[in-house]
Amino acid sequence: ASTAATSVSISGDISSQLHGGYSHPLARSWQAERQLTKSMLIYPLFVSDQPDEEVLIPSLPGQCRRGINRLVPFLEPLIKKGLQSVMLFGVPVAPGVKDALGTAADDPKGPVIQSIKLLRRRFPDLFITTDVCLCEYTSHGHCGILREDGSLNNELSVDRISDVAMAYAYAGAHCVAPSDMNDGRIRAIKLKLIEAGISHKVVLMSYAAKFSGCLYGPFRDAAGSCPSFGDRKCYQLPPGGRGLARRAITRDIQEGADIIMVKPASQYLDIISDAKEIGRDLPVAAYQVSGEFAMIHAGAKAGVFDLKTMAFEATQGILRAGATIVVSYFTPDFLEWLSN
Ligand code: PBG
Ligand code: ZN
Repeated sequence: ASTAATSVSISGDISSQLHGGYSHPLARSWQAERQLTKSMLIYPLFVSDQPDEEVLIPSLPGQCRRGINRLVPFLEPLIKKGLQSVMLFGVPVAPGVKDALGTAADDPKGPVIQSIKLLRRRFPDLFITTDVCLCEYTSHGHCGILREDGSLNNELSVDRISDVAMAYAYAGAHCVAPSDMNDGRIRAIKLKLIEAGISHKVVLMSYAAKFSGCLYGPFRDAAGSCPSFGDRKCYQLPPGGRGLARRAITRDIQEGADIIMVKPASQYLDIISDAKEIGRDLPVAAYQVSGEFAMIHAGAKAGVFDLKTMAFEATQGILRAGATIVVSYFTPDFLEWLSN
C-alpha cells in the first residue's frame, strides 16, 4: 500500500508540465515582465480657448474638451488617485483664430501655454507633456506649413514647430512631444533647446513611428483638426511600413530624442517591439489612440467583452511588446482599477 502513491510514471520529460507555474493569481502576475503601474500612464487632455467650457466628445466616450477654468477641479481628484502626468492638446474654438501658419499654437494667452503655467503652479509634482503640432491651429488642418501645391513645406514647418516647442518649454512644460512627422524636427528642437540652455531640463519625446490610418477620428472631433482637404498619408507612415518605422525610430534617436513613441498602439505591437530593440537604451512610449479607446468601449457596449478586462488585456499587450509609457484615455479608469 505504501508504494501505491508512486504509481505515477515519470518518463523523465517534465517540460510539458506548465500549469503549476501559474496556478495562483499571484504566480500568474509574475509571468508578466512588466505590470502596469500608475507611473506609466499619461492622460491626454483637450484644453479649449473657451475658459468655462466643458463639453463631452460624443465619439470619445466619457472624455471632455475643457476650458482652463475647469482643469484644476477636474484634475484634483485624479491626482489624489495617483495621476502623475498629462499631455496637453490645445483646441482653438473661437472663430477666426486659425490661419495658414498656425499662429495660435504658441499664443502666450492661448490654452496650452496658460495651462502649463497654471498646472505647474497648482500641481508642482504633475509632469506636464505637451503635444506639439500645428493641425489644431491651421486653417487647412494639416500638420505644418503648406506649399502652394498643398504639400508640406518641410523646412518652414520644422522652423515653426520647433519655435512652438520652445514656447511650451519656456512656459514650463517638462516634456515636448512633436506629433507632426516633418523630417528633421527632433534635431531642430534639440538644437534650439541646447542653444537656449534648457536642454538639460526638458524631455524630448518623439512621435517617431506615427502611422496614418483610421484610428484618429474621435481625436479630430475633439480637437477640430480634420484636414480641410486631402489626408496625412504623405507625412504619417503607411500602415504596412515597418521598415520606414524602423528608419524613423533610428533617425529620431540619432537626432536627440529622449523617448520614442509608437502610435497607434495595439495595431502596431511589432513596431513597439522594434522600437524597444532599436532603442533599447531609451524608454518607449505607446499611444493608445482615440480610435482604439472608442473601439474598446464600443465592443464592451455591444457585449463582446467586459470593458475593464479588455482595457487591461490591450494594455498588457502594449507592455509585453516593450512599452513602459502608455498614453491612454483609460488613465482615470486605470487609476481607479489599480487602487483596488
Ligand atoms: C496631432 C495629433 C493627433 C493625435 C495626436 N496628435 C491627430 C492626428 O495626427 O491626426 C491622435 C491622437 C488620438 O487619436 O488619440 N498631430
Ligand atoms: Zn498634427
